Amino acid sequence: MTVQIDHALEEIRRFRPSPEFAANAVADAGLAEAAQADRLGFWADQSRELLQWEKPFTKTLDWSNPPFAKWFEDGELNVAVNCLDRHVEAGNGDRVALHWVGEPGDTRDITYAELTDEVKRAANVLTELGVGSGDRVAIYLPMIPEAVVSMLAVARIGAIHSVVFGGFSADSLASRIDDAEASLVITADGGYRKGKVFPLKPVVDEAIGKSVAGSVKNVLVVRRGENEVAWNDRDLWWHDTVGAASNEHEAESFEAEHPLFILYTSGTTGKPKGILHTSGGYLTQAAFTHKNVFDLHPETDVYWCTADIGWITGHSYVVYGPLANGATQVLYEGTPDTPHPGRWWEIIEKYRVSIFYTAPTAIRSFMKAGRHIPQAFNLRSLRLLGSVGEPINPEAWIWYRHVIGGGSIPVVDTWWQTETGAIMISALPGITDLKPGSAQVAIPGVSIDILSDDGTPVEGVDGGLLVVTEPWPSMLRGIWGDPERFKETYWEKFGDKYFAGDGARRDEDGDIWLLGRVDDVMNVSGHRLSTAEIESSLVAHPWTAEAAVVGAADETTGQAVVAFVILKASQAERVTDLAAASDELRKHVATQIGAIARPRQVFIVNELPKTRSGKIMRRLLRDLAEGRDIGDTTTLADTSIMQTISDQVK
Ligand code: WTA
Repeated sequence: MTVQIDHALEEIRRFRPSPEFAANAVADAGLAEAAQADRLGFWADQSRELLQWEKPFTKTLDWSNPPFAKWFEDGELNVAVNCLDRHVEAGNGDRVALHWVGEPGDTRDITYAELTDEVKRAANVLTELGVGSGDRVAIYLPMIPEAVVSMLAVARIGAIHSVVFGGFSADSLASRIDDAEASLVITADGGYRKGKVFPLKPVVDEAIGKSVAGSVKNVLVVRRGENEVAWNDRDLWWHDTVGAASNEHEAESFEAEHPLFILYTSGTTGKPKGILHTSGGYLTQAAFTHKNVFDLHPETDVYWCTADIGWITGHSYVVYGPLANGATQVLYEGTPDTPHPGRWWEIIEKYRVSIFYTAPTAIRSFMKAGRHIPQAFNLRSLRLLGSVGEPINPEAWIWYRHVIGGGSIPVVDTWWQTETGAIMISALPGITDLKPGSAQVAIPGVSIDILSDDGTPVEGVDGGLLVVTEPWPSMLRGIWGDPERFKETYWEKFGDKYFAGDGARRDEDGDIWLLGRVDDVMNVSGHRLSTAEIESSLVAHPWTAEAAVVGAADETTGQAVVAFVILKASQAERVTDLAAASDELRKHVATQIGAIARPRQVFIVNELPKTRSGKIMRRLLRDLAEGRDIGDTTTLADTSIMQTISDQVK
């Protein structure tokens, strides 16, 4: 087949699954039929089939008090046992769970038996340190096996983990530690990134210094970077404690609704939300989707999801989904281009990766770098590709399928969120005809609709707001410590329907196309950032009087953070070098929140466009940042302002 990439946007193409793929596909059309006929019965069957319940459940869903759902409420299980022990007991202890690759080139292959042992040891240490069921543990680690071990050890004893991405600053870590009142932090001396060791332990020390809750009793430190670290009484080395602990550990079972983790994500206001997930329902849907959307054959496949465990994708599709299914996977510590631009493809060649899951932003940067880089490696082991994090433009989809996938293997575009816990919209490989650029259809057992702003469902070919109309097993159970915000954010707009915050369109085949966020949340390289959070960080700088942040379209990262800042009158005279000042402000955001939030540009201006009621019109700033003609300015209090700002920006 020949492909005309240039016209990809205008054309809607479909790709039939190949007969060979369809013949061996894990998913079958019966799944959708079963879910259609009896949605709750379908999930109950899946849960019984995919998981090991110590006490079987008799009730599937309690939705008597929406939006607070209970799934499989009277059942009991241990999440870690589901991800580890049962595979060993089933005779698969020698199967590799993790092919770990460190950025400098060191590697470790860890079998299910070894991983189980290590998790048992770590669980014993956590217990010795006084961590018990329901206690919170913050995890601030690089992509090393200990990150997976830590999460599972916490889960094993019924404690709750809060993984904080290693790129977040001390301030961000402190606010997350405080919000959850974590009693233990698990970290490392450092990790490798772009050929250097980035220190983590000093950030933890600084965060604990800034913490107002004062909840942290101990810090458990993995030695990875071999860099010097300052030592406190509360600190313990991982190798001294976990290394010396017993590998005997009897796992208790917990109720299905026992909390499993909190994961913070950006919302429309300044403060990140602690999204709460629980055990039985979450694991059911993570396992179900991992198996069916990725067509997992655990005996033969090698799976690789490139997400960091600091994000939900790392939780559901590096840790819980794949391990619950007994998959063999690659875990890679570093960046895609270190020490050479073909690093990812080299890893795929070496481990014969067959299922690969990454983000459009990565695909677009590889497209830019050129196909000669992946083409230097043997990628023929690949048989399925996945995409997540933001809409994948049809050109990138086609490039991914052709250059990485060799032209004939399925590419699944998976839509979901931190809040949904697991994939909600995706083609099922082997069944669905694939359509580049569209996430396509709700997975079996999930009910999606598109509503207009007043709540009426849009009919036929039309756009509106994406909602989930029925509770689903891996749905968030709340926002940690803030049930009101949970109701307000997701459930107030459309009653008992979950409002996702994304715009969507339905095409003539009924396929769903995602159109991006409809709120003040930006999506930069597949990471969610809040305009409000970055604005408050900018305003916290002593020079700043006012700030407005927009997400502007960016060829590689999807969106980029662009800020417009008014300096305080007292500072405006002193700050003469505007380029240096905007650099300082960019750095300030990176220090306060983390490097991912660093604005691409900070423009220092004298005014911001405001309506008569004083609301900043970000829409106009976005026009400016994207180099478009400025839209309708008639509602501005002073209509000449955009001209002034645009002259200044130039
Ligand atoms: C966006 C990541 C289009 C969307 C798993 C959503 C997507 C937000 C897709 C959640 C996709 C994620 N197509 N948009 N396939 N996947 N998004 O919580 O705007 O980090 O609301 O979860 O990313 O981001 P989060």
